[in-house]
Amino acid sequence: MCGIVGAIRNQGPVLAGLVEGLRVLEYRGYDSAGVAVSDEGKIKSAKRQGRLDNLEARLTDSSLENGVAGIGHTRWATHGPPSDENAHPHLGASGCVALVHNGIIENWAELKGELLADGVRFVSDTDTEVLAHLIDRERADASDLSDAVRRALRRVSGYYALAVLAETGDGPELVCARQGPPLAVAFVDDAAYLASDVLGILPHTREISFLEDGDVAVLRPGDVQITDFGGKSVVRPAQAIDWDPEDTGKGGWPHYMLKEIHEQPDVLARTIQGRIDDEAADVVFEDGAFANDAVRDVARIQVIACGTALHAGYIARYLIEGLGGVPVDVDYASEFRYRGPRIVPGTMALAISQSGETADTLAATRLARELGASVGAICNVAGSSQVRESDHVILTHAGPEIGVASTKAFTAQVAAVTLLAVRLGRARGTLSKEDASAILNELKLLRTRIESMLGEHAVDHVRRVAQSHAEQRGFLFLGRGINYPVALEGALKLKEISYMHAEGYPAGEMKHGPIALIDPGMTIVSVSSTGPLAEKVRANIEQVKARGGVVLSVGSDPESHAIAGQSLEVPASSEWLSPILNTVPLQLLSYAIADMRGCDIDKPRNLAKSVTVE
Ligand code: F6R
Repeated sequence: MCGIVGAIRNQGPVLAGLVEGLRVLEYRGYDSAGVAVSDEGKIKSAKRQGRLDNLEARLTDSSLENGVAGIGHTRWATHGPPSDENAHPHLGASGCVALVHNGIIENWAELKGELLADGVRFVSDTDTEVLAHLIDRERADASDLSDAVRRALRRVSGYYALAVLAETGDGPELVCARQGPPLAVAFVDDAAYLASDVLGILPHTREISFLEDGDVAVLRPGDVQITDFGGKSVVRPAQAIDWDPEDTGKGGWPHYMLKEIHEQPDVLARTIQGRIDDEAADVVFEDGAFANDAVRDVARIQVIACGTALHAGYIARYLIEGLGGVPVDVDYASEFRYRGPRIVPGTMALAISQSGETADTLAATRLARELGASVGAICNVAGSSQVRESDHVILTHAGPEIGVASTKAFTAQVAAVTLLAVRLGRARGTLSKEDASAILNELKLLRTRIESMLGEHAVDHVRRVAQSHAEQRGFLFLGRGINYPVALEGALKLKEISYMHAEGYPAGEMKHGPIALIDPGMTIVSVSSTGPLAEKVRANIEQVKARGGVVLSVGSDPESHAIAGQSLEVPASSEWLSPILNTVPLQLLSYAIADMRGCDIDKPRNLAKSVTVE
């Protein structure tokens, strides 16, 4: 999704910092980029279709380098194709207002008609340009830029995070506003910053405030003032973000995805750190989240999530029903919000989201609350909308995830879900002290077990296996029970980054249709089980082999591996913890295949990291 940055300083140019900020936000996915600065009473802008490098090449001969205030944008096309003209910033008719915008202006056509009738000329196909002209026009009657922005926004319906730069003749003004997509602001002694993602501000400060819907912020060097759309002052206290800006680099790895796969031993140790009470064989979350009073009477949990996070939600169903004794429903957020869901009394909605800003997940959770549910969240980004809007929060502490394909955030979500399931089981008396202790001890062993799967020898083996499948026509990932969602995740990862066709299926469903796909051009990846379903998985592998199928067995069941003839081995563990372990070789497999096929692994085509609009 699009990225926004903005800065205003007392003195000294902002251009390099803006471009650096856009570079940090590149991971979100984009197809064009642009900047505008205010310099010597004028707004100057440059924008280019394609990668940021194209824009930077254009900037070498530009006169933008002296501006002390500016805005920048990476665009992911919605209205109008990717092009230089449609890239942001867009200028108002006076040339003294520049606007960057994430989201959608729903009534753009009506507003455009009005502006055209006023004689305004448009140079792009975007809804954003309409808003730039509208704000520009409102300036005539407004006391300042923030007043003009508020007046314009009263006419607008839609979802947006926007930043506006204006030149008054007496110096620049910088304003931003939020209704939907995220926006954060911060200030230091002689500057103020805004960005659509904390990573865009982290190089300057870790004390960051998050705008809420309906907020308008005015940025001045050393100061940020926030009001609501009516102009009434509001306070959004700064939160200390504990991410290290250094973590946003590749740290010597060829891709963020590979770096993040290898971070998993540390990440999982962080997810459980300080949360296990060995003596009570229980889990204690920060801020009293999911404490006894809140969870004893929960009648049902409704998991809401998208994509990879949804797969963590499917695993949550097995864990929470199995250990916590609470019935669980799991729904795609985009389906839940439009299917007229029924919420029984005592329901807790559980949102799972890496970013905490996914539009569908936020909207579905808000709906669940309106219908009477309490709200819990498992999330990676402190201060995100999902975190702020939830009654009970478990932060996954995975650190910034830059690779578009989620890896460490997923395994951290599953570890967090395991902690939650134990908490529920202990609070509700469905899990004995001995059983809880056994699971908590296994959680502590994850670090060393995953380290062993990420050693040089093991990774080389995955690469060799990947080589024999890189030219296949397609893949069918099969799993049973708690490992069925692992099959879904394995297939999603592969298709996202290698563009190969891959489907995930419950192994028991194979004979109801997918078995027709089996031929030597189709690899069947079988995720093994070690529990009561192990025998059934072996039988599924036999069925595939009997039809001449190619099977790759992943997991810790030696018998499955022997029948399949080719395997990626995983250390033995309790069945409850096996989804985390089984996921790791599948991540490496996808990575290796995508790498062999020359794909852009960290920025797969058409994908955005954080989907902040519907
Ligand atoms: C896949 C992936 C996406 C996200 C989904 C939800 O690798 O990353 O499927 O899981 O867009 O995003 P969050 O977790 O930020 O709500």
